Amino acid sequence: MNILHAIQARFRAALAGLVPDPEPFVAMIKPTQDAKYGDYQANCAMSLAKALGKKPRDVAQELVDRLDLANLLEKPEIAGPGFINLRLQSGWLGQQVCAIANDERLGVAIASPAKTYAIDYSSPNVAKPLHVGHLRSTIIGDALTRLLRFLGHTVITDNHLGDWGTQFGILLYGYKNLLNKDAYAKEPVRELARIYVEVRNRIAQAGGGDDEEEARHPIADVCRAETAKLHHGDVENNQLWQEFMPHCLEEIHEVYTKLGILKFNHEHGESFYNPLLPGVVDSLLQANVAEEGDGGAIIIRISKDNVSLVRKRDGAFTYTTSDLATIQYRLEHFKPNAMLYVVDFRQTQHFANLFEAAKRWGVTGVEMTHISFGSVLGREGKPISTRKGDGTELIDLINQAVVRGLEKYEASHAERTAAGHDVPELTDDAKSAIAETVGIGAIKYADLSQNRTSDYKFDYDKMLATEGNTATYMQYAYARNRSIFRKADVDPATLRANPPNVTLDSSFERALALQLLRLEEALLSAVAEYQPSAITAYLWDVAKAFSGFFQNCPVIQAETDALKQSRLLLCDLTARVLKQCLGLLGINVVERM
Ligand code: ARG
Repeated sequence: MNILHAIQARFRAALAGLVPDPEPFVAMIKPTQDAKYGDYQANCAMSLAKALGKKPRDVAQELVDRLDLANLLEKPEIAGPGFINLRLQSGWLGQQVCAIANDERLGVAIASPAKTYAIDYSSPNVAKPLHVGHLRSTIIGDALTRLLRFLGHTVITDNHLGDWGTQFGILLYGYKNLLNKDAYAKEPVRELARIYVEVRNRIAQAGGGDDEEEARHPIADVCRAETAKLHHGDVENNQLWQEFMPHCLEEIHEVYTKLGILKFNHEHGESFYNPLLPGVVDSLLQANVAEEGDGGAIIIRISKDNVSLVRKRDGAFTYTTSDLATIQYRLEHFKPNAMLYVVDFRQTQHFANLFEAAKRWGVTGVEMTHISFGSVLGREGKPISTRKGDGTELIDLINQAVVRGLEKYEASHAERTAAGHDVPELTDDAKSAIAETVGIGAIKYADLSQNRTSDYKFDYDKMLATEGNTATYMQYAYARNRSIFRKADVDPATLRANPPNVTLDSSFERALALQLLRLEEALLSAVAEYQPSAITAYLWDVAKAFSGFFQNCPVIQAETDALKQSRLLLCDLTARVLKQCLGLLGINVVERM
């Protein structure tokens, strides 16, 4: 069910005789910002008037006269210079609500044609603990994957681990010089993390915050030499790399599990592409995409003073070479229609150059998009520093959110008990499940509800607020909604199987029905911009409409049984829409809180 599409179809037909190509005009139909102008508004009469050399209001009238309103729209109203205000027939809305009552997909169609997406997200540099900087790519990528899959697309996920970089030089140095063998035998992940931080700190202390000073530090020199040995096939370093990798992955996967991130289809790190790099450079040279630059380096000249290096003077390959190999591999093995990269804004230039280079290399007919995002800021508004090992580890942030989630639950439990509500006493297990759901949901929602290109402040109090556009609010709204059915002693499944007539006489009922039927529209707009915040904005609209409905329309105490059934169905659909949308964001709900 897509209301916008239904209206657009009527306009398409009405425009057909007037202009050769109705589509640009059809695209000018939008939901209204303010319900007093109706439900949707068509703003095409002004540009249409220009095209036809007529007066806008006359054109609007002509269009309205040609419009088939039957079983969909009330008589439209022409406002101002020629806006056409559209109001849906309440009877039609009621029928549509009925029609999706028993639909698992809540009226959302499967995309046709379905596409294949290769999506690269999370992609941390391994060998050091995950920190807050890894949060956004992981959460946004996970949400987009869930969304695209729900819409029926094939999504191949690939965690493009940075498993071949200089950080291994640091680990190798630390292992050879600072290892506590007993600790490593007992808890290898912890010990590797410790030596990593230890080496970094030693270098940082000597440098006193000056990057160049740090780079000249003798330990930094040795670390670089260790990395070079690894890359040149040194047996000991390669064996150690083999030994470290599973420990590094274990640490990362533990965080993913805790966060409830989907399992990746592939985790081909940079190391996977290493054997392909010489061939990539040869191919680039042969195709005249790359050329020899100063001193024998191989470069791709993107523009006059913008070049990408693909082989350094010393023969080492670069991040770009590895990404070009990755593109080639994904094209061959995944056959995608689109390749998406969820990576922070600091890599904007890298991806712009990469996509341009790929095009020149012959990659065409496939979308390549950098899904960029801003930084996570501390409460004082500065980026949380992660460089010198003082940034909080991601796992600690998550655990902290879970602790806060429990506090939140307990406070609300005490408050409701004191107010004389009938609040269930839960087992400790049930309570920790709630704490996890609330705490982790709060982190994810706070992130996903931002326009992804903006920075945002990481603030537990805000993200766990029970009022406002937060996961906590949505989770409570869901649980409260479910409790209506327990109180009414109605099984929602039975209601869905035999949906009652839905009447929308109250403006609150009508407003809620309209929102519930806008699910597909919201999901499609989230996909169009790769913007999960379109889903949270929609959730907020649904939640507000529900709250208006619930305050003004008695459900269990409705005047007639028919009205009660009709309202119960609206409640049930609201709960399902909330659960579905939260699920697409990777956020769980609990049935009672
Ligand atoms: N490992 C990189 C980093 O942490 C991100 C990799 C993103 N994916 C890619 N194909 N370049 O900066």
